[in-house]
Amino acid sequence: MTILVTGGAGFIGAHFILYMMKVHKDLRILCLDKLTYAADLSYLAPVMDSPRFRFVKGDICDRETVYRLFEEEHPDMVVNFAAESHVDRSIEDPALFLETNILGTGVLLDGCRTYGIQRFHQVSTDEVYGDLPLDRPDLLFTEESPLDPHSPYSSSKASADLLTLACRRTYGIPVTISRCSNNYGPFQYPEKLIPLTIQRALTDQPIPLYGDGKNVRDWLYVEDHCRAIDLILQKGKDGEIYNIGGHCEISNRDLIRRILHILSKPDTLITQVKDRPGHDRRYGMDTKKIRSQLGWQGETEFEEGLERTVVWYVDKYKGL
Ligand SMILES: NC(=O)c1ccc[n+]([C@@H]2O[C@H](COP(=O)([O-])OP(=O)(O)OC[C@H]3O[C@@H](n4cnc5c(N)ncnc54)[C@H](O)[C@@H]3O)[C@@H](O)[C@H]2O)c1
Repeated sequence: MTILVTGGAGFIGAHFILYMMKVHKDLRILCLDKLTYAADLSYLAPVMDSPRFRFVKGDICDRETVYRLFEEEHPDMVVNFAAESHVDRSIEDPALFLETNILGTGVLLDGCRTYGIQRFHQVSTDEVYGDLPLDRPDLLFTEESPLDPHSPYSSSKASADLLTLACRRTYGIPVTISRCSNNYGPFQYPEKLIPLTIQRALTDQPIPLYGDGKNVRDWLYVEDHCRAIDLILQKGKDGEIYNIGGHCEISNRDLIRRILHILSKPDTLITQVKDRPGHDRRYGMDTKKIRSQLGWQGETEFEEGLERTVVWYVDKYKGL
């Protein structure tokens, strides 16, 4: 079995590759990554010399590169992590998001159609559902919730999901989609909330908090996400969408406070800044489907995962 993993030098993709190589000893992984600012090849060092692994620097939008890889490697499955992933950057400059997240996904699907594939898996996000009110904690997103993306990032991801489903219907490409809540763990680029907070706190710099800080995110340890995708590849049904989430809803302000507490830094570092335009208030995932149909559940307790994550970044940033 050969899996083409795109975006595998980024945060979640790198964890996925390390996890899959460790758990499936007969698996070959081919990683295609453009190595944008968000990538770090050193995360793949443990597998780089394995005969079961090959890294190719390239763009999923580049048809020639993608088709050449299909011809050379005949992948059995494609797992598409490659994306521009930062909402703030998408608000500044949407074009690259549309190109990579939509057109790039289209090129990969064309490759699957041309050369054949057992499964194309699209890694999507809870953000495609829009947001939920803060005063209705009983409401959660299910797989049937309507798509209602609010940022250029989330609308590009929703578009890619629709394209993926359309290619199944039109061309018969076997596909699955997973929509996951916010991930945390080692390897994340320090523009995202958790590594940014740790990096700033360690150097006693102000930690920016959007608006009133009450926006709520549902946090999941990154390896639990990887395990879920592995299960979907093995047992998920063609054409199905699976929500993945941590059932761990925390406001941004509380999250920053918890990190400051672990680092023994004062709350006074928190500095309120102008809210992000269109800022989603709350995400919350109903994960009944993946739990009941595939037997998945999150295993990492938030306190333990956060502690582990902070320790990793402290080590990475020591000497700053
Ligand atoms: N981080 C989260 O909390 C989260 C939650 C749910 C879903 N997701 C989705 O998971 C996927 C991975 O997210 P992440 O946080 O690891 O992102 P990331 O920004 O850390 O990594 C993205 C990777 O994709 C690569 N890439 C970007 N454009 C490319 C292109 N045109 N061709 C090839 N490679 C390209 C980058 O070099 C990088 O290695 C994304 O699709 C994202 O939408 C992320």
